[in-house]
Amino acid sequence: MLTLQAPFYRAVNDEVEVFHAAARRGAPVLLKGPTGCGKTRFVEAMAHELGRDLITVAGHEDMTSADLVGRFLLKGGETVWVDGPLTRAVREGAIFYLDEVVEARQDTTVVIHPLADHRRELPVDRLGITLPAAEGFQLVISYNPGYQSVLKSLKESTRQRFIAIELGFPPPDVEREVVAREAGVDPSTADILVRLANTIRNLDGSPLREVASTRMLILTAGLVAEGLNLRSAVQAAMVLVLSDDADVVRALGELVDAVLPRA
Ligand SMILES: Nc1ncnc2c1ncn2[C@@H]1O[C@H](COP(=O)(O)OP(=O)(O)O)[C@@H](O)[C@H]1O
Ligand SMILES: [Mg+2]
Repeated sequence: MLTLQAPFYRAVNDEVEVFHAAARRGAPVLLKGPTGCGKTRFVEAMAHELGRDLITVAGHEDMTSADLVGRFLLKGGETVWVDGPLTRAVREGAIFYLDEVVEARQDTTVVIHPLADHRRELPVDRLGITLPAAEGFQLVISYNPGYQSVLKSLKESTRQRFIAIELGFPPPDVEREVVAREAGVDPSTADILVRLANTIRNLDGSPLREVASTRMLILTAGLVAEGLNLRSAVQAAMVLVLSDDADVVRALGELVDAVLPRA
């Protein structure tokens, strides 16, 4: 899908230059970073800048290689082949974005190997053909390096053909701008939320599985933009989302009270 309006992405380091150079070489890209830090938005922005279609698939546990490559379906008594999203991207020369591959099983993702290496081709076993990737095809995979990942199963020789880009949470000035802009809140509200997030992110020995992400801050700020008071918004979109443990929720609440201005 080509969007007319450029997706808003504020570069943090040299990620845009790295992506463009990789794209010119047709090299596959590994995007590393925690959930909600801007990986998807970054790929959307790059696809737009490069004028390529973007086909995104979110990895999940039950995903099969047929979900990626395609399958025969019964249509009006006839069996017809339907390309999967990966096959479409290979034929059309689109950017294929496999989002958060953490959950995907190894037997599912073996189909990407010959696309990632020098062969740049996709074997479609059920059709008995091998498709060469069209000009412009690019494989992009994102994952959270904190998790067990299917990427650990990539052969070293395949893995070494990837270009890796690490995206973390943006630095405070960028994150403030992103939160204010995406949620439509004033800079001072965005500033408080970013400071709160960084306090949570920097907790020593944190019991949290995930810290407060940029996405979480945008959601919180969105509630404020809807007229909810800041403390309630933080409780609803951050504290209670970050943990189910009563003690942790209480401790987070105290931390929030220390960072938020007195009402
Ligand atoms: N550098 C950035 N520029 C613009 N928006 C950003 C940036 N970093 C994060 N965001 C915002 O954070 C939100 C979550 O990002 P997303 O791309 O969905 O995260 P991920 O794919 O890493 O889970 C998006 O709505 C996006 O607006
Ligand atoms: Mg994403």
